[in-house]
Amino acid sequence: MSKTHRIAVIGGDGTGPEVIAEARKVLDAAAAKFGFGLEYTEFDYGGDRYLATGEVLPEGAVDGLRGFEAILLGAIGHPEVAPGILEKGILLKLRFELDQYVNLRPVKLYPGVECPLEGKGPDEIDFVVVRENTEGLYTGMGGVVYKGTPDEVATQIQCNTRHGVERCVRFAFDYCRKAGRKKVTLCSKTNVLTFTQDLWWRAFNEVGEADYPEIERDYAHVDATCMWMVKNPEWFDVIVTCNMFGDIITDLGAMIQGGMGIAAGANINPEGVSMFEPIGGSAPKYTGQGKINPLAAICAGGMMLEHLGETQAGEAVEAAVMKVTAGRIESLGAGKMGYSTSEVGDLVCEAL
Ligand code: IPM
Ligand code: MN
Repeated sequence: MSKTHRIAVIGGDGTGPEVIAEARKVLDAAAAKFGFGLEYTEFDYGGDRYLATGEVLPEGAVDGLRGFEAILLGAIGHPEVAPGILEKGILLKLRFELDQYVNLRPVKLYPGVECPLEGKGPDEIDFVVVRENTEGLYTGMGGVVYKGTPDEVATQIQCNTRHGVERCVRFAFDYCRKAGRKKVTLCSKTNVLTFTQDLWWRAFNEVGEADYPEIERDYAHVDATCMWMVKNPEWFDVIVTCNMFGDIITDLGAMIQGGMGIAAGANINPEGVSMFEPIGGSAPKYTGQGKINPLAAICAGGMMLEHLGETQAGEAVEAAVMKVTAGRIESLGAGKMGYSTSEVGDLVCEAL
């Protein structure tokens, strides 16, 4: 056996642990087939632990995670915990502290998957969103005074740095080049956000012109991006965008690729520890019922293998998922697959 990769696993809340169990099953099958090892260490971070201990992440948790090659995350979000506590305290904290400055989200319609866009198929829907992941409206800058009074003032500041924007833009161009893609579109709002988005505009064009002259550069305002994603998704190849716009357009992206059951993402620090997750959330109402679709988590696992340098295995996982969507399962929706969560995991293993 050539190498054993050490992976931290955070199943998290709701259906997170169920889908991660299926991802592990498929990853283990891929490891056996391609001759490498995977060693998992589980962490119980999430809503239940918070409710029991009052602590979102224990002391030293982030440093502990730095010792792994990658993190596989199920979902964070618990119905009994007020919104924001777990999201900020776990998910965003890890993205920020581990400096996972890119959120990479492929929007790819797999064969056999029902698409809500009339006349569009796998040939038309195949692009990647490079979302900036540690700045923008997500830094927590701002504040509130006179809260709860008629004089309340609230601000939430969009903060971008040349360093943060430039490294994200470079990642997008590098990704485009390596993936053999042709075009990077900056999704922004330069007509209104004339400070932060002007920084994006200049960094995008300066870096592109100087270091990636062969890559076509395109531009779309974020509102128009939403329109084109529905009307002409084939126009997009690689999209680079700020944190908040990326959050919004990737939910739209998930819908045109068949739903949350298939959408996966990677939080990447090219020099550090990256974290792979299905983007759909914890879906608490389905917890423990075996109804949730594990394909997004499995795809996140596939992305993790590619990131670990197990390229062939990662591609094989994606190909196996495509076989399952093309011929085996009825629908991607929870409870509508025609199979249970673990049976879908088995189907992918068989296809592999
Ligand atoms: C996502 C999620 C998170 C985000 C939430 C849960 C904080 O919506 O990963 O897209 O806004 O980034
Ligand atoms: Mn989101």
